[in-house]
Amino acid sequence: MPAARPIILALVLAVLGGCATELPAAGVARGEVLYLNCTQCHGDDGGGSTLVHAPAIAGLPQWYIEDQVTNFQTGWRGAHEDDVEGLKMRPMSRTIKSAADVKLVAEYVAGLPAKKAEPTVHGDVAKGQAAYAVCSACHGVDGTGNETMKAPPLTQVQDWYVVKQLSKFKAGVRGYEPLDTTAATMKGISGGIADEAAMRDLAAYIQTLPL
Ligand code: HEC
Ligand code: HEC
Repeated sequence: MPAARPIILALVLAVLGGCATELPAAGVARGEVLYLNCTQCHGDDGGGSTLVHAPAIAGLPQWYIEDQVTNFQTGWRGAHEDDVEGLKMRPMSRTIKSAADVKLVAEYVAGLPAKKAEPTVHGDVAKGQAAYAVCSACHGVDGTGNETMKAPPLTQVQDWYVVKQLSKFKAGVRGYEPLDTTAATMKGISGGIADEAAMRDLAAYIQTLPL
């Protein structure tokens, strides 16, 4: 019945309005409030979303989250015209208005417990393990990363995300900014990965590494 529509609309608006004016509970840290800008894609628990291609970010190191959010803000990442997902993340990074707030939201996300994502990629684990020898120099034998090398852990992001990022580096859709020597390093490495099948092998092996 068309007459019911305005009533439903009014109800929806009342509910939404209620949410918008609801103040965070006393003692809720600013980082958690800032993270409300992120839950739509990365989830309340930071577990990510395959549907919107958002990585699991819970428990990533604070320094890496800070670096990446800042890179999205400056356009060192996510500004390439072919980076469909990066172009979605970039405006979101700009909801965080100051370096101090980037730190706080990163601290909150880093504090969320990481979970092992379900395997989705089919690859040859043995081939991936052999190829991973090159990667271990920076990401560690156990894939837990190395802050000195600015290399993030690889064990908690989803396997499909690993494949996607490797193909982005290889295509120059990520790591395109020469001033970003950190990403440029990884872009250089990705050039040595033959094709997407080899990326799937690597991701399948990385998936077997515990958190
Ligand atoms: C509209 C959906 C969306 C929202 C909202 C969003 N993100 Fe993202 N985010 C993404 C997508 C998609 C990617 C993957 C980009 C890519 O493929 O390179 C991403 C990537 C990231 C990464 C990189 C992780 C890694 O391992 O490389 C970080 C960190 C991140 N987001 C943090 C945040 C934070 C903090 C917020 C809130 C301020 C936020 N995101 C809000 C969609 C979103
Ligand atoms: C010389 C050091 C080095 C080596 C070797 C290296 N990486 Fe990296 N890798 C990095 C750095 C540094 C970054 C972070 C880049 C940035 O800041 O955008 C990175 C980022 C990544 C990412 C993105 C992770 C995320 O959460 O967004 C993936 C996936 C990755 N590397 C996989 C690999 C694989 C697989 C290999 C081996 C074939 C490898 N790396 C070898 C340094 C290295």
